[in-house]
Amino acid sequence: EEKSTVSITVVGASGDLAKKKIFPALFALYYEGCLPEQFTVFGYARSKMTDAELRNMVSRTLTCRIDKRSNSALSFGLGPVFALFESKLFGLHERLHPFGFFRENCGEKMEQFLERCFYHSGQYDSQADFAELDKKLKEHEAGKVSNRLFYLSIPPNIFIDAVRCASLSSSSPNGWTRVIVEKPFGRDSESSAALTRALKQYLKEDQIFRIDHYLGKELVENLSVLRFSNLIFEPLWSRQFIRNVQLIFAEDFGTEGRGGYFDNYGIIRDIMQNHLLQILALFAMETPVSLDAEDIRNEKVKVLRSMRPLQLDDVAIGQYKSHTRGGVTYPAYTDDKTVPKDSLTPTFAAAALFIDNARWDGVPFLMKAGKALHDRRAEIRVQFRHVPGNLYKRNFGTDLDQATNELVIRVQPDEAIYLKINNKVPGLGMRLDRSNLNLLYAARYSKEIPDAYERLLLDAIEGERRLFIRSDELDAAWSLFTPVLKELEEKKIVPEYYPYGSRGPVGAHYLAARYKVRWGDIAIDK
Ligand code: BG6
Repeated sequence: EEKSTVSITVVGASGDLAKKKIFPALFALYYEGCLPEQFTVFGYARSKMTDAELRNMVSRTLTCRIDKRSNSALSFGLGPVFALFESKLFGLHERLHPFGFFRENCGEKMEQFLERCFYHSGQYDSQADFAELDKKLKEHEAGKVSNRLFYLSIPPNIFIDAVRCASLSSSSPNGWTRVIVEKPFGRDSESSAALTRALKQYLKEDQIFRIDHYLGKELVENLSVLRFSNLIFEPLWSRQFIRNVQLIFAEDFGTEGRGGYFDNYGIIRDIMQNHLLQILALFAMETPVSLDAEDIRNEKVKVLRSMRPLQLDDVAIGQYKSHTRGGVTYPAYTDDKTVPKDSLTPTFAAAALFIDNARWDGVPFLMKAGKALHDRRAEIRVQFRHVPGNLYKRNFGTDLDQATNELVIRVQPDEAIYLKINNKVPGLGMRLDRSNLNLLYAARYSKEIPDAYERLLLDAIEGERRLFIRSDELDAAWSLFTPVLKELEEKKIVPEYYPYGSRGPVGAHYLAARYKVRWGDIAIDK
């Protein structure tokens, strides 16, 4: 509609998330022509800044090179320089270059985008300051139907104040008002419920967009396509054929610089309770009635509510310690100045979860999440059962695990889906080996995969709720983890220390072995 406008206010505009993800995603959407014709972006934060200063700050976060696979200085902060460079050298839209993808006419687009960016300085708990923002928004909206999206990119202790002030002083008078919130959504069932209650004093559920950015990742969204639009997977998708499912998250860097936040949460709350559990829910849910947001979320809640709360016995935790390799010393978690020296906060955890329903009874869902490990990846591994009465048993020796089919969905990096199958090694003898049926995204699709935040922001603007967390989903997710989190903290369970850059604590292997599972590993695949 020509007569309506969208104002996007980034509350906490100078924060890390805003700079790393939100502004770049908004620019990418603008570049792709996905934002409504009439839009403005407002930065809101406490520090004093002019519009020009905000634009300058934002411009340093934008990039014309969109290869997300590396975080080198090239892709960060040199946007305008590259824009020039690129527009002279390349003719095509999003051309593949040895160093990544470049955007055509990027500099020009960037200028246009920045002209739509403004700044308003205010306190997060001041209705008067938000009322001033409201005035500025109205000027830009110029009497058109105004739709307003607030992105709360601020610490949890000021969430509610900001929601109260935004909703009371700067809600849209005649269009929609939506608020995007990021985790942490509390730190256990009670605090999460309290947060939800507080939010609902000022907002209706359908105004709240709870982000779990893993839901915006291409391969996570593809899970449902894989399951429900192919004949060959869904019939196998149950305890009858699947031996175990693994959900793995690894990062090859520590919590450097984020210790203050992290120490209060730990890896179980940071990664498992949300990102990995959301993947699990999409993986394990029953077929939804339709692709509508409510139908999908109904199924996700059902599967979460069928799960057994996690037991202490089914958890292994770790914390990284300092390690020196090749003359470089990597810090321990507790070397971070914002982390207490005696912190027991886990930076690694492995867990075995179970879904007590007809489809998944007895199938272990193993999760593993860790910081400062030897590689960076996120993937889903599905290990199938052994072939009953396998005629080729001999060819595998005693290790039947080597012979099972495994489906791997690699969410990142190098997005891929591959299926390990047994195959005869060509030749006169009868030797089998395991090969991959392989879908490598980089080889198959020439377009760069959009960042999760792009998809999620676009969905929020369009009012599509499929990829956002409903409050009952959130409650169900906390019910699973709250008892064990309390127990870990009350009993002051000491994490197993693992060297920075290692494969993590052996406790994870003992846990898996209890369920006769071996963790899948990229190194083994090769
Ligand atoms: C965030 C966590 O939600 O996800 C971080 O708080 C983590 O600790 C990040 O690093 C990982 O996201 P991505 O998209 O880089 O895999």
